[in-house]
Amino acid sequence: MARLPDAFIDDLLARTDIVEVVGTRVPLKRQGKEYSARCPFHDERSASFTVSPTKQFYHCFGCGAHGTAISFLMNYDRLEFLDAVDELAKRAGMEIPRETNSRTPQQQDDSRDQYSALDAASRFFQKQLESSDKARAYLDGRDVDADTRARFAIGYAPDGYSALKDALGKDERRLKLLERVGLFSKNDRGHVYDKFRDRVMFPIFDRRGRVIAFGGRVMEKDDGPKYLNSPETALFHKGRELYGLWQVRQANQKIERLIVVEGYMDVVSLFQFGVTQAVATLGTATTPDHAELLFRNAPDVYFCFDGDAAGRRAGWRALESVLPRMKDGRQAFFLFLPDGEDPDTIVRKEGAEAFDARLKQGTPLSQFFFDELSREINLGTLDGKARLAEHAKPMLAQIPDGAFGDLMKQELARLTGIGNRAVAAPSATRAPSRANVAPVAKRSLVRAAIAILLQQPSLAMNLESHHAIGGLRLPGIELLLELLELVQQRPDISTGALLEHFNEREEQAALHKLAAMDLPGDEASWAQELQDAINQLEKQLLQQRLDELQAKQRQQGLDDTDKYELRELLKARAGMR
Ligand code: UTP
Ligand code: MN
Repeated sequence: MARLPDAFIDDLLARTDIVEVVGTRVPLKRQGKEYSARCPFHDERSASFTVSPTKQFYHCFGCGAHGTAISFLMNYDRLEFLDAVDELAKRAGMEIPRETNSRTPQQQDDSRDQYSALDAASRFFQKQLESSDKARAYLDGRDVDADTRARFAIGYAPDGYSALKDALGKDERRLKLLERVGLFSKNDRGHVYDKFRDRVMFPIFDRRGRVIAFGGRVMEKDDGPKYLNSPETALFHKGRELYGLWQVRQANQKIERLIVVEGYMDVVSLFQFGVTQAVATLGTATTPDHAELLFRNAPDVYFCFDGDAAGRRAGWRALESVLPRMKDGRQAFFLFLPDGEDPDTIVRKEGAEAFDARLKQGTPLSQFFFDELSREINLGTLDGKARLAEHAKPMLAQIPDGAFGDLMKQELARLTGIGNRAVAAPSATRAPSRANVAPVAKRSLVRAAIAILLQQPSLAMNLESHHAIGGLRLPGIELLLELLELVQQRPDISTGALLEHFNEREEQAALHKLAAMDLPGDEASWAQELQDAINQLEKQLLQQRLDELQAKQRQQGLDDTDKYELRELLKARAGMR
């Protein structure tokens, strides 16, 4: 993902009011210092969703959804990060820094032209469908109705080598554009001609509804590959796009589930029969980018594959891509269809309800995972159990912290009897960092300081000092220092903007919880508590160094600098009392 400078995001969030952004989309009610509403991200009767104008972030006590104005737009309007930023920047009248766009103005104009060339081509193909008896007969034969043809903008690329070229390639510049978006092929002598010939055309839309590529299907067997896809271009990366996602978004207010199928026609037919949440990977395996995109759009994802060996392999690839994204609240299911069927044929034969019923029978990820791994292993033997543990552990380690990961590890322990105690600790009591676990009291000191800083960042400016805790070996110290540093640079930063710095880092979820916590006391008592915590930590660091020096003294003796440091430390400690 392209990265914008942190300073720009800080400015953007400082100039954005989250209450306004949320309020234009969800009716908010004022309640004391905050606003509340029924959560737009889960079904509920009561209003557990709160938006804080002071902290500039939202939080749902029901489902745990949380974030800044940026993440709200990503989740509610289902935008990509850059698109959400773009939207807010427009509202705030800000310009996204060019150089980090990594594209020159020239290139930006160029991409506008590329979109319009693709759009023109798509319209040309649609027009051609009207006048091709053969192509219309083909779609009739496959029972694709007029509505569906229009919704998916299905078209026809005429036979011959230059229909598109003649229609749209008016001058050298247009020719170059069409070539750049993947609509031409070139022969050995450098002659360019239409890539798609005599094919039914399925345009592929991006998340904003722009055509970025095509898939073209032959109508008769033996006419080359069944489907021909656009090559990878500046606008089209097949590992990152899902066919049909745009239409799914148009048809669903809230996407409860997404169904991943293999083919263009599967998406199209399911849609026509009323299953309006299907998307297809474009002749590739499910990539990690796909998995991310899927879960950003829906909490439940159903993967639908052929029942053969290739289908199971594809299922496993999909599992590998989703595992590291299985945060709590997300679910993945796997469905393998009877031999010779695909969702297109099934939904036509059995109807939408029967298809839904099949989905409900889908295998949950947990079961698919252990079934597949133990497929060729005899769990009746110790060797077999060890093998299973060996294969499963590194994969389970990729699951984000949370109940799901814990349950999977427990299941592994149950199946193998290995590592029960080691792996089954509930994550709630886990230390923030996996390195050395500190006594509870010390850890909560750091935690308390972080919580206060998050809730009232400006308090960092009142601190007398905070430089002397750097080398302290306690979990969370690095994080605390990082937060202090951030506030030093931007004394007026809001909670939300602060959290945005941890976007996509593993600490993010824990930080959000601390930021949403109801802290007892008021601003004055927090200031005091923060100062006390820092003082305590400074003392602990001093003690840590003293212990080190004294240990060295016992083991190998001290040199002159050590002795000097020891004396200074003892003096300092005396002064602190
Ligand atoms: P299938 O061969 O299963 O075809 O390819 P299908 O989807 O059932 O197509 P119809 O129903 O006969 O029209 C599944 C998907 O794999 C990709 C396409 O995305 C296709 O939809 N594919 C297949 C290709 O990219 N090229 C090919 O030659 C074949
Ligand atoms: Mn098919």
